[in-house]
Amino acid sequence: MINTLTKAYIFLLIMTVFSCRTDSKNVVSKVSNEAPFDVKVDSLMRLMTLQEKIGQTVMYSGGWTVTGPTVSSNNKKYIKEGNVGAMLNVYSAKGTRDLQKLAVEETRLGIPLLFGYDVIHGFRTIFPINLGLAASWDLEDIEKGSRIAAEEASAEGIHWTFAPMVDIGRDPRWGRISEGAGEDVYLGSEIAKAYVKGFQGDDLSKHNTILACAKHFVGYGAAQAGRDYHTVNMGEDELRNVYLPPFEATVEAGVETFMTAFNEVNGVPATANKFIFRDILRDEWNFNGFVVTDYTAINELVPHGFAEDEKHATKLAINAGIDMDMMSSANRLYLEELVNEGSVDETLINDACRRILLTKYKLGLFDDPYRYCDEQREKEVVYKPEFLEAARKSAAMCSVLLKNEGKGLPLNNSQTIALIGPLAKDKENIIGNWAAAGDRKGKAISVHEGIQEYLGDSKIIYAKGCEIEGDDKSEFNRAINAAKRADKVVMVMGEDYDMSGEAASRTNIKLPGRQTDLIKAIRKAVPNKKIILVLMNGRPLDLSEEDHLADAILETWFPGTSGGSGVADVLFGTYNPSGKLPVTFPRTLGQVPIYYNMKNTGRPIPPNNPKEDYKSNYIDSPNTPLYPFGHGLSYTNFEYSDVQLSATTIGSSDTLTASVTITNTGDYDGSEVAQLYVHDKVGSITRPVKELKGFEKIVLKKGESKTVSFDLTVEDLKFYNNDTFTVEPGTFEIAIKGTSDFNFEHIFTLE
Ligand code: NOJ
Repeated sequence: MINTLTKAYIFLLIMTVFSCRTDSKNVVSKVSNEAPFDVKVDSLMRLMTLQEKIGQTVMYSGGWTVTGPTVSSNNKKYIKEGNVGAMLNVYSAKGTRDLQKLAVEETRLGIPLLFGYDVIHGFRTIFPINLGLAASWDLEDIEKGSRIAAEEASAEGIHWTFAPMVDIGRDPRWGRISEGAGEDVYLGSEIAKAYVKGFQGDDLSKHNTILACAKHFVGYGAAQAGRDYHTVNMGEDELRNVYLPPFEATVEAGVETFMTAFNEVNGVPATANKFIFRDILRDEWNFNGFVVTDYTAINELVPHGFAEDEKHATKLAINAGIDMDMMSSANRLYLEELVNEGSVDETLINDACRRILLTKYKLGLFDDPYRYCDEQREKEVVYKPEFLEAARKSAAMCSVLLKNEGKGLPLNNSQTIALIGPLAKDKENIIGNWAAAGDRKGKAISVHEGIQEYLGDSKIIYAKGCEIEGDDKSEFNRAINAAKRADKVVMVMGEDYDMSGEAASRTNIKLPGRQTDLIKAIRKAVPNKKIILVLMNGRPLDLSEEDHLADAILETWFPGTSGGSGVADVLFGTYNPSGKLPVTFPRTLGQVPIYYNMKNTGRPIPPNNPKEDYKSNYIDSPNTPLYPFGHGLSYTNFEYSDVQLSATTIGSSDTLTASVTITNTGDYDGSEVAQLYVHDKVGSITRPVKELKGFEKIVLKKGESKTVSFDLTVEDLKFYNNDTFTVEPGTFEIAIKGTSDFNFEHIFTLE
């Protein structure tokens, strides 16, 4: 029986199609606002030629920012012809309005463009790099940061960010480890959801929310030898237990788009990989949004050796389930021909076009294509003081105190500081890579300026000492003299911002240039003075030498626009450091890949790590890292006691509650991240020696105690055993600690 509502839709549809036929340009305004989006999309698609539908699947770069090889394209001409559905690398209310006008006013159907951009860790107000954000283990702060990024980006015409990057990163050589949440599946998945919620908000039709994009699907972080874009080969167990879960988490959080990875996965490049896009993403996870390729990834199927030529590549990509072509020109050049000659089914193009149009409806672009191009709003929103303040707080929360011997930190404002190092006054690198529309020319607060807020000028003796790279030691003496005249030495060192990020893999993960030599020289000159090393870098570094030389080490990643202030807040104890490493810092590159939840092997070394023959170890290094995952000190001390399990045996429908009491036994108020780890002792496939299953950040006043508890169900214990997702009865070890570096003491049994 057809109900009244259905009849109303049918009537609407007929009216819509009829009215649009008479004046197709105004199709948008003729569709009743009451109609559901899919009805509107159907109406619109009835009017579209095959070429126009293909046009919706094409994305070009405006070139304001360069994020890939330049491909010549005549954007404006293609837009006017109705051959472009989306643009990237264009921003500002005026810039996007000008291009939007071409699409809306000069094409036959007036379909608005979608503007995408890499809003990765902020748009104008830049937050710490993503690896740093992950070190806060603070989901609220991460969501808030991406909300602010969305506020600013949307005020400058952006509808869509190519973020979050949720690739698990376990190889510090890989430059893009900086852009993700580190090595862990659970932490990475929780953070992935926080980003999506922050960008997309609770209502996509609001003009201050933007589409998120889960990237790079999938395995990008597992590039062989840490070389960007390199081959990825892994078993389905690793794929499903480690690399896929953060992506599935974004689907749960309602992410609207996905981006393909550049790499191949087990012999099939991701951009042509039906298994990951059709079988997993669409069929298993029921993802309804659209999929965009990475930059020129369709054309790259040719050098991959998977497609004979670009036309063949176009066919492979659409067949694999890819909806939008970023910068390959492949869809524009070949899709129509492929359909006409019968090698591509037109329904695939209809599906892709439908998904893209639906997204444009969700954003409200058909109601008002210029709703994100409001110059007044742009002026009011970017760099709001509260955004800069939030970035300052994030910079403090993301800093990880790796080492603090002899109370090198916090500093106090009665002392004179020798401030040394190539990054001490830096305002260019401090905002890190992938800094969207961030300002490298002076907007950022340097560490020097941050320290000035506490000490003024008279107690700071500055000397650069050396550059980030190169062999020049001519400024060493000046730096040594500064150190001799001061009470404490603060050295701000690290990498150049473009030593991490895309296509920035390194074969050496030590501090570049002469920086370590400068620390050595100063250590020798002032053997009894405290040396505090403040680091900015986009990856775990090999800090074995620095660990011996410095009394305190504060990892600040690249802390962003307000970075210098946030870092100074930590140095002077206004903010007691609470960051924990989201990734392992090795002793030496030779240990890579090294991560906390490795397998045990058949010949493990005993927990206290002695050298033994014929065991799985190195003859020239311990197995243990320099700083483990989850590690991060505070100016106070936290003691963990009284572990309680609600049961020692649970059934498959039970919940186990594990709790611990944490006491702040030191001299400062502070925050601690309590981490729940589990070890499934025997499985139908071997299980990692430790797996993070929960965490909670708590604030404890000096002397205060709190009980933290976690609920664990069989859902949390599931894994893929190369056949199915399963949870198997048996013994599990369990612990709640402030780091991943511990031995288990408690067990429970699952019946
Ligand atoms: C290539 C990068 O891999 C991807 O992450 C980015 O979103 C696109 N370029 C667009 O800039």
